[in-house]
Amino acid sequence: GLPNRVTIYEVGPRDGLQNEDAIVDVAIKAEFIQRLADAGLTTIETTSFVHPKWVPQLADAAELLSRLNLPEGLRTPVLVPNERGLDRALEAGVSEIAIFASATETFAAKNLNSTVDDQFAMFAPTVRRALDEGLTVRGYVSMCYGDPWEGDVPIDQVVKVGARLVELGCHELSLGDTIGVATPGQVTALIKAFEAAGVGVDRLAVHFHDTYGQALANTLTALREGVTTVDSSAGGLGGCPYAESATGNLATEDLVWQLDGLGIETGVDLEKLVTTSVWMAGQLGKPSASRVVQALAG
Ligand code: HMG
Ligand code: MG
Repeated sequence: GLPNRVTIYEVGPRDGLQNEDAIVDVAIKAEFIQRLADAGLTTIETTSFVHPKWVPQLADAAELLSRLNLPEGLRTPVLVPNERGLDRALEAGVSEIAIFASATETFAAKNLNSTVDDQFAMFAPTVRRALDEGLTVRGYVSMCYGDPWEGDVPIDQVVKVGARLVELGCHELSLGDTIGVATPGQVTALIKAFEAAGVGVDRLAVHFHDTYGQALANTLTALREGVTTVDSSAGGLGGCPYAESATGNLATEDLVWQLDGLGIETGVDLEKLVTTSVWMAGQLGKPSASRVVQALAG
């Protein structure tokens, strides 16, 4: 069966804007986040406390957070790779972080200047301190279904990395199809493999990029397996600067259209969201990649 309600984990301000060539003004970012909250999104990943030279688009993280005046109860996690990032995030007053691991050696090197094994030496003290400070920690696993340099990624390799993140204390795992190559059979197989390894579907979120147009089919497959948290990006913004051939995330509007049609609650006002994405597209000087935005804004 399908769930009655799905939690949309909005990543547009982070996964979206980190990959835009344009550096968006901090005031525009703040307005974007405000408008996403106003459209009914309850979880919005706002920015990253990574090295500013690695992702200059999000170098204004602290300044951005200081400008937000968000409603009580809104969840606003930020990406943090290491203890230096955690220091900066704590200083900015965050209560929720996400660490991001790679399932493959090549991406660990390109994205974290590390290895699959060594990344855990960076994460372990970061997560321990975050939990001590009362934060909640999400764990991403990247390259779950395919890697642009290594090709197919063995399921065991993905499950091993994910299970280690759970052991460290991550309350939720987001399974990233970083380059958007997955098809539904792989999604079912990975979720079942995690369940067999003791990581239940209640701890899994899915994170699809739409490079090959499979994101919605993959999402519906995950929902049928019992997943109830889905990552998406308003207007389909996004990609990943350290992964060739990654295009935008599943568009939040495309997701909401599907869930509305299925009678699954999200709390999102689609019309307000589309208006926001049209406005953001104007700021970026290019049309939204979302089919639903194109259809409704026409
Ligand atoms: P490194 O160069 O190995 O860092 O980078 P280091 O530990 O050797 O430190 C070098 C210098 O950087 C030091 O300064 C540190 O203090 C500083 P120095 O002593 O030389 O003056 N430094 C920092 N400064 C500010 N903030 C920090 C920080 N850390 C160190 N956090 C590092 C290692 C992990 C920092 C780097 O590789 C990095 O920032 N990577 C982030 C890349 C990234 O953000 N990628 C995109 C997000 S992942 C993604 O999009 C996938 C996802 O969407 C899911 C999916 O689709 O699969 C999540
Ligand atoms: Mg991503």
